[in-house]
Amino acid sequence: MKKTNEIILAIETSCDETAVAVIQGGNKILSNVVATQMEIHQKFGGVVPEVASRHHMEQITLVMEQALEEAKVTMEQIDAVAVTKGPGLVGALLVGVNAAKAIAFAHQKPLIAVHHIAGHIYANRFQAEFDFPLLSLVVSGGHSELIVMDEHGSYDIIGETRDDAAGEAYDKVAKALKLPYPGGPQIDRLAQQGEDTYNFPRAWLQDSYDFSFSGLKTAVINQLHKLRQKDQTIDQENIAASFQSSVMEVLVEKTYQAATAYEVKQLIVAGGVSANKELRERMEEKFKDSSIQVMIPPLYLCTDNAAMIGAAASIQYHQEDFADLSLNANPGFML
Ligand code: KG4
Ligand code: ZN
Repeated sequence: MKKTNEIILAIETSCDETAVAVIQGGNKILSNVVATQMEIHQKFGGVVPEVASRHHMEQITLVMEQALEEAKVTMEQIDAVAVTKGPGLVGALLVGVNAAKAIAFAHQKPLIAVHHIAGHIYANRFQAEFDFPLLSLVVSGGHSELIVMDEHGSYDIIGETRDDAAGEAYDKVAKALKLPYPGGPQIDRLAQQGEDTYNFPRAWLQDSYDFSFSGLKTAVINQLHKLRQKDQTIDQENIAASFQSSVMEVLVEKTYQAATAYEVKQLIVAGGVSANKELRERMEEKFKDSSIQVMIPPLYLCTDNAAMIGAAASIQYHQEDFADLSLNANPGFML
């Protein structure tokens, strides 16, 4: 029998954040350090994989030392080492996986391989305990999924994007608007000052919980081309508000339909796009008269971090779902 108040050292390097956290009992953050590379990638308008891996290598030891120091724990007190196995950029993932393996081997600690999306979902475990069945809307730079969970560690994907992920559409539309990377927060900010005047298409995809955002993205880009060709001024606020309205209306409506159809007790919103102000407000509003409890992480746990990896790893620790030292990064890891 494993101890209940276990302390996990968790590592996340799947994209452009080098993150290490120390988590106790699955829901208590002892430390949560995130070294972001955002400014470095901004120069290139997006994440450059080789640059990301190099920076992870430079940062990982420092971030790990800082996380242990802030948590006031030594490696001897750590019960397991957890790491994101995938999905993500392979060169970036490998830095975290190798660091985790090295430290687990050196200190003879069990190793836990975590799925990045499970991590995003479990970011909500710092708010409240999960109550099953639950529905999770995961919206990040690489994923847009509706997932039903009947118990810890069980994931039934009932809907997913057929093309661009929601965050990806945000980043591409932001690029077309000549806004810096990452585009999500920029569009979020502009949209708050604009109105839905363009009425861009909504991809309902009848009788399916799937999503599609590439048609909308193309509609926005075409609109921008037309305005530029005619030398007309571009009202960035209204374009942003119109694009966002179209994304959010579909996300919220489909989520509500799925939550009702599957008779879930909780709705979890997760992934970088869950930081979006309009999504948070619309989701709360839509569910306010229902008995379904809505959980959305605080802003600092929406985007990539290692605390969420530690929370997901805690479940695997108690299920004794350990990896061995042959663990490898898996950029296409399935949930
Ligand atoms: O979960 P995350 O940090 O990384 C991935 O796993 O992909 O998500 C990053 C994505 C980016 O596409 C970013 O533009 C988007 O989340 N994002 C937002 C907001 N903050 C981050 N999208 C809309 N509104 C936001 N406030
Ligand atoms: Zn993520």
